[in-house]
Amino acid sequence: GTALGATAAETGRYFGAAVAVNKLSDSVYVGILNREFTMVTAENEMKWDATEPNPNQFTYTGGDRLVSHAQANGMRVRGHALAWHQQQPRWTSVLSGSALRSAMINHVTQVATHYRGKIYAWDVVNEAFADGGSGGRRDSNLQRTGDDWIEAAFRAARAADPGAKLCYNDYYTDGQNAKSNGVYAMVQDFKARGVPIDCVGFQSHFTGQSPVPSDHQANLQRFVDLGVEVQITELDIEGSGSSQTDSYSRVVRACLAISRCTGITVSGIRDTDSWRASATPLLFDGNGNKKAAYTSTLNAL
Ligand code: XIL
Repeated sequence: GTALGATAAETGRYFGAAVAVNKLSDSVYVGILNREFTMVTAENEMKWDATEPNPNQFTYTGGDRLVSHAQANGMRVRGHALAWHQQQPRWTSVLSGSALRSAMINHVTQVATHYRGKIYAWDVVNEAFADGGSGGRRDSNLQRTGDDWIEAAFRAARAADPGAKLCYNDYYTDGQNAKSNGVYAMVQDFKARGVPIDCVGFQSHFTGQSPVPSDHQANLQRFVDLGVEVQITELDIEGSGSSQTDSYSRVVRACLAISRCTGITVSGIRDTDSWRASATPLLFDGNGNKKAAYTSTLNAL
């Protein structure tokens, strides 16, 4: 193939990018986006602080611009993220208990209803499990409303947009470890009890300290075996040279080896667009030129 999205489509998959809506006026950025990618994720514009800055007052300007751009260019949209402990509006920090629970459910309902029919998959809940060896939930204001907050969010999202795939999304879950075991047990429990969940997103932020694990493919497969799809949702790989190119091709090959690994999204376009730009973790350099990591990714698709 000659472009990431078109080549991924040959096996029925998508290749996406996280997009910052304010960069849609940058012609180099948009040129690469429209040429290479078939799925977009809003980098920040659909988060709670952006969409509901004041209680029950919703602003969809940025997210709507992204949806329009996607629709005009034949791309699908991943919604990100309905319920998360980060990037919450200021007003939720003074809420707790049933007031916070109601605010969260209302948020999920309103946002998923606004975008109903326009979203391929929602990250309904993002990063709810703790790092380290506990395998348990991360402490957060949402978690303190009760352990069932995650299933409540998924049920509200399903009711609001029955056509969207509903995903749980997290990082450091790429190999089998305490954290991914915790997520696995939750998905298994949701499937057993009929709580709506369709997919698990693996953010896939790889670093020198946290490289692509040797059991990456096996770990994705065990989730698929529970009856969900998996997606690589925020891929970026720190470094340069052969360690970076090898890691990109390994991640792509792992996904392609699993029929229900349905797509790969990178966490930005150029290294200079990255949320961790000093790590040069993406597929295009600051001038928009294809890096060696691009070529190895394309060749692996
Ligand atoms: C990041 C954005 O890329 C930044 O622009 C913002 O300042 C912070 O959030 N995991 C996620 C993403 O799920 O939403 C985060 O995005 C990166 C980590």
